[in-house]
Amino acid sequence: MNFHTIIEPFRIKSVEAVKFTTRDERERALKVARYNVFLLRGEDVLIDLLTDSGTGAMSAAQWGAMMQGDETYAGSRSFYRFQSVIQDLTGFKHIIPTHQGRAAERILFHTVLKPWDIVPSNTHFDTTRANIEVEDAEAVDLVIPEGKVPSLIHPFKGNVDVARLEKLLKEKGDHVPLVMVTVTNNSGGGQPVSLTNLKAVREVCHRYGKPLFLDACRFAENAWFIKTREEGQSHRTPKEIAQEMFSLADGCTMSAKKDGLANIGGFLAMNDDTWAQNARNLLILTEGFTTYGGLAGYDLEAVAQGLVEVVEESYLHYRIRSTAYFAEKLISGGVPIIQPPGGHAVYIDARAMLPHVPPLQYPGIAVVNQLYVEAGIRGVEIGTVMFGMHPDGTETPGAMDLVRLAIPRRVYTQSHIDYAAEGVLEVFRSREKLRGYRITKAPKVLRHFTAEFEPLG
Ligand code: F0G
Repeated sequence: MNFHTIIEPFRIKSVEAVKFTTRDERERALKVARYNVFLLRGEDVLIDLLTDSGTGAMSAAQWGAMMQGDETYAGSRSFYRFQSVIQDLTGFKHIIPTHQGRAAERILFHTVLKPWDIVPSNTHFDTTRANIEVEDAEAVDLVIPEGKVPSLIHPFKGNVDVARLEKLLKEKGDHVPLVMVTVTNNSGGGQPVSLTNLKAVREVCHRYGKPLFLDACRFAENAWFIKTREEGQSHRTPKEIAQEMFSLADGCTMSAKKDGLANIGGFLAMNDDTWAQNARNLLILTEGFTTYGGLAGYDLEAVAQGLVEVVEESYLHYRIRSTAYFAEKLISGGVPIIQPPGGHAVYIDARAMLPHVPPLQYPGIAVVNQLYVEAGIRGVEIGTVMFGMHPDGTETPGAMDLVRLAIPRRVYTQSHIDYAAEGVLEVFRSREKLRGYRITKAPKVLRHFTAEFEPLG
């Protein structure tokens, strides 16, 4: 018998109650939060799809490993386990632990960038972009044109536009100290990058003498897409594919809060001795000694074990299938989403869903807020609020106005996802009534986290 039902590849040993609220309570809570769901109290959210970062459930093996954590300040056994798991996976010489991904980014960029430098990528995540801009350098996104058309089906919408990369290196190569590729491409819809594309990027980087770094947060999900979508890859294990992805690069930044299956942690890894030395000096100054980098010994254990579990086929099969299952329910109800669905999230095209709300009235915020009021579900805007404000103080519409519903790893069951789909469909039915927002207060950078809004009449 060939079973069609793909079950969660785990059983549940420990549970956490969720709190049910009324619509009135949610309306009040949202008003108190100045219509920014980042400012809600987590316990007022029923199903939290704000992020897949640090929100996953750890396995019994991870909790068990944590009890074995070695809290030695220098040379902890847990560091050596962490280092050996990461070296086995990535092949990189220097493994530098950090408390999360953006710390790895800050250390890398602060030590290698000069003002006016340029860092190309398929699409930089917002913290990556901000850590480049804070060094007075420029973050340039060079995703293929298909990657910007939400409804267009393409197996690797995260691919880099290699011709544009080459043009940039030819014209301004002196200002480019490194090239980055984000796997999967979070800001572009959680879309994968093919091995063929990575090889082509590698080849161009090699010709121009530029190191290639992966933003590897979701490397395992990317490897699964390569296995299932790229010709000639289906017989390989996700780990073998991931190893090849890393072998094409000279280093990586990593948030272990995603495909590290841990609640906190990250690392910076690379082959270059001088860059690594400078990075370690800064690490000691701001994060901690080189064998813990701002993490507890038990965190290093959780990440090491998580990196072993995340490349298991049964896990990745379930993970990617459950995201697709959620997406299929929305597509069949007519909701415009990025297609095909990404690995860690479903992205609603809020601009297409609310054509009557102009981008500068933030259609993504309108959808996010209604979803919370209607169903107690928290998503996040990835659009004009996140990307529309420029360092010179001008505001333009983001490339897209998306609402991301990110799925925490191993946390929600199929019935939670069924409920979430019902919630989205309800908002979709009432879409014509939704109105835009105005920003009443916002910080200069990364405004989406703390901006305050007011609904337009
Ligand atoms: N790069 C990518 C592609 C990311 O998605 C993130 C975080 C980071 C870097 C930074 O890592 O949070 O550990 O400092 N993304 C989270 C998200 C916050 O919700 O997508 P971090």
